[in-house]
Amino acid sequence: MAIRETLKMGHSLLWQTARPVEDFGSPELDALIADMFETMQALNGVGLAAPQIGESLHLIVFEVRDNPRYPEAAAIPRTVLVNPALRVIDQTQEEDWEGCLSLPGLRGRVPRYRAVHYQGRDAQGRVLEGEARGFHARLLQHEVDHLDGILYPQRIRDLRNFGFESALFAPPPAPEKTTRES
Ligand code: NI
Repeated sequence: MAIRETLKMGHSLLWQTARPVEDFGSPELDALIADMFETMQALNGVGLAAPQIGESLHLIVFEVRDNPRYPEAAAIPRTVLVNPALRVIDQTQEEDWEGCLSLPGLRGRVPRYRAVHYQGRDAQGRVLEGEARGFHARLLQHEVDHLDGILYPQRIRDLRNFGFESALFAPPPAPEKTTRES
């Protein structure tokens, strides 16, 4: 296992459509998944797509458990989803803040569907499917976007809702004590 370098926005591989995984249960796939979890955890991520570590494959991992970057998020079990496909089951979109390990230090308000049905496979090729709502649905849409070469800033409706965490969530400035001359 190894912590891998995370590609940052601007790297051309992040704009590419990833290719489907065809070999399941292989040592190479298991090693890649182990690296993805290790990299994600080292960076306090809640999800990671294979292209983010330079592997242009249809593979995402996620897990939410007491995460300091998303303290409000409900727990989601450790999941590997290979060749995932999403179907929207609630057309209502909600905006909320998202971050991405390929854009460190930044956050944006992104509209996402409230609920999706997902289908994919685990590392051994067994079918996994279910329904996800709220943050879980948001996370799936964010990660599957990576496989289509889409990064979350492309989905932001108003770029004033995009910026550095340190500025967006800074406490309001204290009132000026001295009168500044114009
Ligand atoms: Ni991301």
